[in-house]
Amino acid sequence: MTQNLPPPIPSLVPESAPFSEEQRVWLNGFFAGLISLDGFGVTSISNAQAAALIGGAPAQAPEDDDGGAPWHDQTLPLAERMKMADGKPVRWRLMAAMAQQDCGQCGYDCKNYSKAIFDGKEERLNLCVPGGKETARMVKALHDELKSAPAAAKPAAPQPAEAAPAAPVGAPGCSRDNPATATLLSRKLLNRPGSEKETWHIEFDLSACGLDYAVGDAFGLFPTNDPALVEAVIKALGAPGDFPMGGRTLRAVLHDGVSLSPAPDMLFQLFSYITGGERRKKARALSVGEDPDGDATTLDVLAALEKFPGIRPDPEAFIEALDPLQPRLYSISSSPKVHQGRVTLTVDTVRYDIGKRRRLGVCSTCLAERLVPGAEVKVYVQKAHAFGLPADANVPVIMIGPGTGVAPFRAFLQERQARKAPGRNWLFFGHQRSNCDFFYEDEFKEMKASGVLTRLTLAWSRDSGEKIYVQDRMREVGRDLWAWLADGAHVYVCGDAKRMAKDVEVALVDIAAQHGARNAEEARAFVAELKKKGRYQQDVY
Ligand SMILES: Cc1cc2nc3c(=O)[nH]c(=O)nc-3n(C[C@H](O)[C@H](O)[C@H](O)COP(=O)(O)OP(=O)(O)OC[C@H]3O[C@@H](n4cnc5c(N)ncnc54)[C@H](O)[C@@H]3O)c2cc1C
Ligand SMILES: NC(=O)c1ccc[n+]([C@@H]2O[C@H](COP(=O)([O-])OP(=O)(O)OC[C@H]3O[C@@H](n4cnc5c(N)ncnc54)[C@H](OP(=O)(O)O)[C@@H]3O)[C@@H](O)[C@H]2O)c1
Repeated sequence: MTQNLPPPIPSLVPESAPFSEEQRVWLNGFFAGLISLDGFGVTSISNAQAAALIGGAPAQAPEDDDGGAPWHDQTLPLAERMKMADGKPVRWRLMAAMAQQDCGQCGYDCKNYSKAIFDGKEERLNLCVPGGKETARMVKALHDELKSAPAAAKPAAPQPAEAAPAAPVGAPGCSRDNPATATLLSRKLLNRPGSEKETWHIEFDLSACGLDYAVGDAFGLFPTNDPALVEAVIKALGAPGDFPMGGRTLRAVLHDGVSLSPAPDMLFQLFSYITGGERRKKARALSVGEDPDGDATTLDVLAALEKFPGIRPDPEAFIEALDPLQPRLYSISSSPKVHQGRVTLTVDTVRYDIGKRRRLGVCSTCLAERLVPGAEVKVYVQKAHAFGLPADANVPVIMIGPGTGVAPFRAFLQERQARKAPGRNWLFFGHQRSNCDFFYEDEFKEMKASGVLTRLTLAWSRDSGEKIYVQDRMREVGRDLWAWLADGAHVYVCGDAKRMAKDVEVALVDIAAQHGARNAEEARAFVAELKKKGRYQQDVY
């Protein structure tokens, strides 16, 4: 005989909510008393609502705990970063696979790009430019793992408040997904004769698009491929340039739609489908990141076609196998307070030879030689991720920017000058040769004379037999630098991510140890603390 028992009271507080058993029982009783329970139509409150009711922040679920994200260090190789994230949920391994520069080229920072992929909100898996093919392969493998995981291991459908901030689209020019149009005004070579470098001061007119920016932001540009390279690819492909393709021609798509730089894995996969024997084996090996002939790193799209001569892929399949042509970012080197309706950039031209062929950096050579003043370009402003002047204009700033790394500091100085900021400004600039690579020499000397630039410290790496770098100069004036830090100075570093940024940080740690009477560990902790407080900011690439 069954007893006529009332239905069990449904639990209003989910099992996963961050409460002890005692708290859960109390809360369930509390809510049961507040509402009439008939077993139907009762919705559990969310973890956040429940926590808010008892005055606590929701505890972090284990899958949300990044353990301090130790892999978030651009100087670590991918294998090491993945080791650090080993055993962590896919969300964090995805983040560890990114290049950790927070450079913004993908439209996010590393944490939010990986989260967007994890949440299924971002389908483009190959946006991490500094990570290159290595990161793209790892991200794809993790994405495959995620797709094949049992439902329980997959991310729950994101609640609106929890979703990764998607790459913002907004008004035209505010994101890479919705660019505006700017007009190239002028370019001027910054190096003098005798230099080994070719760096251009580039100016764009923003008055028609009305785009605004702040110092510290970067400017995104959509480049086009070199027409001579496009023609060479068409010839190697053996297809007519006017082959129709979604309302366009093969030539037009090769010009502005796809990257002709490193040949992607997909291209070799395509080759493996339409070849046989040894050639298929080779193409397969290349498609999984192996290097059968020791030339994999030299294979751009044209070199890949030349390596498999006579191959005749269907032009549309060929285009589908290529990566989209990505925009490039440049640190803005002007203040909008001084250059109203305009923006300036400081661009180093990338050219190098492999075998008999000269390779061209797509965007830098587009700006240096292919675009003529008056040309219209698709552009956007990439808002800085924690890289900007202190809000308090009295705070002293120390800026370390060798080479093109000086770009944002020209902007910072213009801004401080325009605002009549009383804070002191110290610039460390370095490059190869004093007589031909001193960018903005006249401007900086004028700023020095007028007092805007309190100190200007220069390091020339090829003036003498001995290489002098900015960090050598920092050590030489370590006592003064320490005194500025003691006065609350903010430190900024811009330029090369791979070597310079790391070496500058080591120099700062050494200065803290020597002049701040700290042991090595305390000195490292001091610099880490500067970073945490936003007093040590980097814009590196
Ligand atoms: C936030 C941010 C700010 C930046 N600011 C600036 C700036 O102010 N000024 C500036 O000049 N750049 C800046 N850059 C870098 C810039 O975005 C581009 O990466 C750079 O101009 C090269 O782009 P490209 O299209 O000309 O070259 P790509 O076509 O992208 O070619 C560059 C690639 O060529 C290869 N390569 C280059 N040299 C060699 C070589 N000698 N041997 C073999 N391979 C080689 C490397 O794989 C390299 O990644 C910034 C980047 C970021 C992320
Ligand atoms: N992606 C590319 O293809 C490409 C091409 C060019 C530049 N870049 C990058 O673009 C950035 C800026 O290039 P850039 O032309 O402006 O200048 P750069 O090549 O970074 O050189 C600027 C100055 O920094 C010096 N330098 C070299 N190693 C250093 C170190 N470990 N610490 C401190 N200073 C160091 C250089 O000296 P020496 O050269 O005499 O040693 C030079 O005097 C860098 O990231 C660079 O790697 C990329």
